[in-house]
This record gives sequence, structure tokens and C-alpha cells, in this order.
Amino acid sequence: MPVAEFLSRPMAVACDAQTLRNRVALAPMAGMTDVPFRTLAWRFGAGHMVSEMVTSKPELWDTGKSRARRVLIPHVQPQAVQIAGNDPSVMAESARRLVDDGVEWVDINFGCPAKKVCRKAAGSALLADIDQISRIVAAVASAVDVPVSVKTRIGLTLDDNAGTQAAVAAQEAGAQLIVMHGRSRACRFKGHACPERLHQARSRLRVPLLANGDIVDLASAEHTLRRSGADGVMLGRGAMGQPWIFAKLLGHSLPSAEDRLDLIREHLDAMHAFYGEEAGVRIARKHMQAYLQRWGAPELIADFMALSNAQQQHAWLFARRQQMLQRAAYVFTQGKVAA
Ligand SMILES: Cc1cc2nc3c(=O)[nH]c(=O)nc-3n(C[C@H](O)[C@H](O)[C@H](O)COP(=O)(O)O)c2cc1C
Repeated sequence: MPVAEFLSRPMAVACDAQTLRNRVALAPMAGMTDVPFRTLAWRFGAGHMVSEMVTSKPELWDTGKSRARRVLIPHVQPQAVQIAGNDPSVMAESARRLVDDGVEWVDINFGCPAKKVCRKAAGSALLADIDQISRIVAAVASAVDVPVSVKTRIGLTLDDNAGTQAAVAAQEAGAQLIVMHGRSRACRFKGHACPERLHQARSRLRVPLLANGDIVDLASAEHTLRRSGADGVMLGRGAMGQPWIFAKLLGHSLPSAEDRLDLIREHLDAMHAFYGEEAGVRIARKHMQAYLQRWGAPELIADFMALSNAQQQHAWLFARRQQMLQRAAYVFTQGKVAA
């Protein structure tokens, strides 16, 4: 079956209680996959999206950053929020509060390698304590009546199979979907993802498994699916600067270069509106850097970085429109940039 056709098939989770509209998910990426970006990803067909990580301690939720990460997007279903922490009762309480606020899916982070998370024995540090993973998932799953998923890695190092053990333990404790990044905790983001290392987990799971790591186009999605045997894919960095990638993976037509520029303008507007001008301008720089890289116009990045307010960012994009369309006519048709 062609990969786009496979990825377009709905995926039942939670004993058919929830059905994802397809098998292509957007990965949570703190600082990137916020409400404005997820809104675009959903429009282009992402079948599942998880919020940027939120601490499991509700007493730390009263900050602008934490509040922004818990905002729900109208007409997106299901709405998943990811929590990170290590205390089962605290995690259960935060899951309960999220669901009271309308969250329809709780994801637990067992994959983050960041020092500030691992120092607190959370994220990927928990791959060293599979029993604690069981206790956390069991506490969260029994606290809420929405699906609970976990996102993890293949292991602590390339030489162990802690990822498989964590996935199976999470399933037995009540997780209804597993996402596995094909790198170890020690690899962090270096080297290549190893999708074949997901195979063992797939063979031992009843619940669906999404493969994550280095998926940027149809070829890499197909490679990952074949090697892992996974039920679908989740992509993170591959969606940066091209939220329309979901349409591509699902076999739908892509927006024209003109439409992409309009979408980038809309994305700029959404960031300024969602965060306010100061933070919106800062966050827009990260996204515009990704758009310009994908556009085959990296020489324009420094120019955009120097802009200091929303009006300048808009005016800049407007003034570069013809130049970018000419560049698109060259790079997209020459296949120099993933179209
Ligand atoms: C900037 C950045 C932020 C991330 N934040 C999170 C996060 O909040 N929660 C999480 O589970 N993973 C997070 N990740 C990991 C990604 O979800 C994903 O597992 C990883 O990037 C590998 O997938 P990719 O090759 O498709 O990007 C982050 C990754 C990046 C690059």
C-alpha cells in the first residue's frame, strides 16, 4: 500500500473510544509547537498533536509560559497536553486538573534528555526506573477517563532496551498509545534515529505505536515505517518551516508558493496576537528562520533577525514577496528544497 494511503487511515485508540483521523502526528517541541503552529499543522491534516511539555506541578502553572502551553485550540480534537514529572500522585492530580479544564488526552514525557528535567528524575531519566514509569502511568490513567499516552526513547543508551521495557510497562499500566523516538537518552539529538530499534516494542505491544525521529518527507516516513513496523509516525523538526508537510505525507496537494507566503504572513499575525508583540516578535524569528531555510533563502535570515517589532516583520515579508516567489520558482521546481 502506498505510504500516503497507509498514513491516511484513521487510527483507533483506547479500545475504539477515540479515533485519530490519520496516522501522522506532530511532535511536542517546547518553544516551537505552540498554539499558532499547531493551528496550521491541524489545518494541513496532522491527525494528532501534543502540547509543549508542561510541568506536572500545578503550583507552577501560574506563569504566562505555562498558561500559553495549556491553551486549547477551537475545533481541534482531541486536544492532548503533555506533562513531565516523577511523582505519581502529583502527576495524577495535574492530569485531573487538565481534564477539568477541557483537555481530552494526557501525554506523559519519558523522553526529554534536558538536564533541568532529568535532574528532577523526570523525562528520559525515568528509563532507569521502569517500576516508577508503571506507577506514574497507573496513577494518571486511573485519575482521568481520557486516553493517556507516553512518549519515550529507545533506551538509556544504544546498548539497552529500556525503551521497550518502558513501553510495555506503560501499556500494562494503562497507556493507550506509545510514541518512541529512535534515539537513546545518551544520543540526545545526535546521530541518526534507529527505527529498527522500535521493532521489539512493536512486537510486544497491543496498543498503537508511533515512530518518531528524522522524518522529514514521504521517503523518510516510509523508511521509518518499514524498519519499525510502527502504526504511524510523529514528526517534529521535519515540520518546522513547512507545516504543509502533513498534506504531503497524506497525499494531498500542497499550497502554491503564493499561498505559502500568505500562510507565513498569517502565522506571523497569529504569533503576534497570541503572545503579544514583544514575545511574538521573538518567537517569530525562530519560525521565520525555519521558513527561510526551507525556502532555500538562508542569506535572508540575518536580515529578518535584526527586525525589532511586528510592523517591521510584516513589512519585511511584504517587501520580499517577489524575491521569494522568484526563488521558489527556482528551488521548488529544481527539487533543491522539499516541495
Ligand atoms: C526544540 C525542541 C523541543 C522539544 N520539546 C519537547 C517536549 O516538550 N516534549 C517532548 O516529548 N519532546 C520534545 N522534543 C523532542 C521531539 O518531540 C522529538 O522527539 C525529537 O525532536 C525527534 O523527532 P524529530 O527528528 O522529528 O524532530 C523537543 C525537540 C526539540 C528539537
